[in-house]
Amino acid sequence: MEQTGTENGVAAMAAHYQRFDPAAYLQYNYTPPRADFDRKDSIVPWKLACLHRAFTEGDIGGKLLVDIGTGPTLYQVLSACEVFERVVLTDFLEANRKELRRWLQGEEGCGLDWTPYMQHVCELEGRRASAWTEKAAKLRRAIAAILPIDVHRPQPVEPGALPAAGADCLVSCFCLESVSPDLAAFTRALGHIGTLLRPGGHLLLIGALEESFYLGGPGVKIPVVPLGEADVCASLNASGYTLIRLEVYTLPRDMRVGVDDVTGVFFAKAKKD
Ligand SMILES: C[S@@+](CC[C@H](N)C(=O)[O-])C[C@H]1O[C@@H](n2cnc3c(N)ncnc32)[C@H](O)[C@@H]1O
Repeated sequence: MEQTGTENGVAAMAAHYQRFDPAAYLQYNYTPPRADFDRKDSIVPWKLACLHRAFTEGDIGGKLLVDIGTGPTLYQVLSACEVFERVVLTDFLEANRKELRRWLQGEEGCGLDWTPYMQHVCELEGRRASAWTEKAAKLRRAIAAILPIDVHRPQPVEPGALPAAGADCLVSCFCLESVSPDLAAFTRALGHIGTLLRPGGHLLLIGALEESFYLGGPGVKIPVVPLGEADVCASLNASGYTLIRLEVYTLPRDMRVGVDDVTGVFFAKAKKD
């Protein structure tokens, strides 16, 4: 009975995503005020700073990094591509994978210009903003695949799509809480993606705090599992990760722009036991 309820919840989430609009989502979340590089309290610079710090502390390394639920966005792998030779992007929706391929192949008509993002990350790395062209080339070289994924399956990607030994690092941003019908499904999904990570590998998890919905496009209200900091810590623990650090960002009032009801964002750095 309980299993059927969960299956129905997962199916309902998948149905919501059929109307996800990559261009609108990018517009809502990845333009000012949320992506204002002149403001220290803007959400995107905060996320980029967390990722930059995590990848330059010296403890994360290896060859393969997998980003889970990439969506139509690339900001989350801009620091990673300086450390990892191979970066694999994944998403549930073909529309998002198509948007990523468009950028990878340098096609016209991308939903967002990532140049200011790359310039900002170059500056975090102590380089001139103009080095962004090198970063773009490096990221394009590093992206080894763009794969379909379903975090609700015990085996989230097609068998053989990734090395059996597991990735050295996983990144996942705003995915698990916004695709899961409840906290139990969120925790299970965290366990499922853990099968893609080698023991001792790192997980960088960014997500929404106390959010109950977000807009995936005009009139596309997608439910989200409202998470507290304690839920994140407990789920990581229950799924076989040791938490290294949890950072929290509180959204300033003018960053609450009506496209969701998020109040904060967490950044977790964890290690698989
Ligand atoms: C809120 S968006 C996050 C996108 C991006 N990572 C970001 O930071 O903005 C959630 C993403 O999860 C993807 N998704 C939906 N259902 C999924 C599933 N069952 N497994 C994995 N990803 C899923 C969606 O297609 C969407 O790209």
